[in-house]
Amino acid sequence: MARLNVNGVVREVDAEPDTPLLWVIREQIGLTGTKYGCGIAQCGACTVHIDGAAVRACSLPLSAVEPGQKIVTIEGLAPGADHPVQQAWAELDVPQCGFCQPGMIMASAALLAQNPRPSEAEIRQEITNICRCGTYNRVLAGIKRAAERGQSG
Ligand code: FES
Ligand code: FES
Repeated sequence: MARLNVNGVVREVDAEPDTPLLWVIREQIGLTGTKYGCGIAQCGACTVHIDGAAVRACSLPLSAVEPGQKIVTIEGLAPGADHPVQQAWAELDVPQCGFCQPGMIMASAALLAQNPRPSEAEIRQEITNICRCGTYNRVLAGIKRAAERGQSG
């Protein structure tokens, strides 16, 4: 058994210590917004925040989560799904199929929390998530829009 703080709620989970956090989140806790893409830390579909940092949950064993760490998934990013990144995404119709987008949004939100006005080069360097639909240009525009929103509000 392990205790995890996910989206502000402490949950008891029963999984082997080497179980990837992604599967604990999806199958035990039932939060399916966090997606499985590659399973080898390459695509970013499984991105969650741990103490504010973007982490690829497919490649993090449950045992690596330390007691007291705060995990946030796409479902818990903002009440009403109104984080500046989510607002910018809606305004610019960033998603296409949508599968990669929870990870894109979580990675983008973590970047802006650390660096509220990233340059385009910094965005390209930091956001390495893969999108099969090729939404990269809209993701870039969305992050810039969210940065503007964050400054104004
Ligand atoms: S599923 Fe985790 S990085 Fe691809
Ligand atoms: S929107 Fe389809 S994979 Fe990114």
